[in-house]
Amino acid sequence: MSMNFGIIIAFMLGLLALYVGATELISSKKSKGEVLVFPRNAMPKRDRRANDEEAGQNKAGMLSEKSAQQEAREVAGIQRQTAIFHWENVIYDIKIKKEERRILDHVSGWVKPGTLTCLMGVSGAGKTTLLDVLASRVTMGVIDGEMLVDGRPRDDSFQRKTGYVQQQDLHLSTSTVREALRFSALLRQPAKVPRQEKLDYVEEVLKLLEMDTYANAVVGVLGEGLNVEQRKRLTIGVELVAKP
Ligand SMILES: Nc1ncnc2c1ncn2[C@@H]1O[C@H](COP(=O)(O)OP(=O)(O)OP(=O)(O)O)[C@@H](O)[C@H]1O
Ligand SMILES: [Mg+2]
Repeated sequence: MSMNFGIIIAFMLGLLALYVGATELISSKKSKGEVLVFPRNAMPKRDRRANDEEAGQNKAGMLSEKSAQQEAREVAGIQRQTAIFHWENVIYDIKIKKEERRILDHVSGWVKPGTLTCLMGVSGAGKTTLLDVLASRVTMGVIDGEMLVDGRPRDDSFQRKTGYVQQQDLHLSTSTVREALRFSALLRQPAKVPRQEKLDYVEEVLKLLEMDTYANAVVGVLGEGLNVEQRKRLTIGVELVAKP
């Protein structure tokens, strides 16, 4: 009896030792956390990057203390918006399997310039659909109702003049932040704007969104590249550089 018990204990200790030894030897893929990836030629020096990060933090601290006046001067390069956008009795009907379905039923609203407006509702309420309809992004279905800018119906240039950031952040993973912004600025700003002016505007937006420290970083994939916040900033930046 006592011998059997001893054997069980010996087995347990033996296997435990084997297990502990094996976990030491087998190194599973270590999680790298979030790392920014830079192209070889644009790699910031290690200590310089640390400094930059500190400087960035200082700057963030300073920014919050800055008066509104100073901030207004700093973003003077970005146009101030005055146009009021409002919509009335917007209806959106689609046909699913020969059955009419009304997704938006007489929706009215407005957005005030210079303010942050929030659209809330339960999942499936139609937030995305409303924004898609207002941004003229839907390709099917029947849209009815009025969408007015400053009381006048919107014209064809509306889509060019507005920026719309979607929920997902779609970026070319091989391009750098600055390249992505330049690409958007060069293609989406009017052709009559000189190239240099567009590129300067990109730098302005990089500063505005506080993205200078990783302007040369590759977009990459999640975990090895920009993180979620940096990605969203880039998405917003891509719209901003088109001067909406
Ligand atoms: N093209 C379509 N075909 C069929 N149904 C649609 C279509 N577009 C929207 N709907 C329906 O309209 C409703 C509203 O969807 P929508 O995606 O706008 O909701 P949401 O408020 O954005 O929700 P969430 O918070 O989950 O993003 C949903 O019930 C959806 O099934
Ligand atoms: Mg949605």
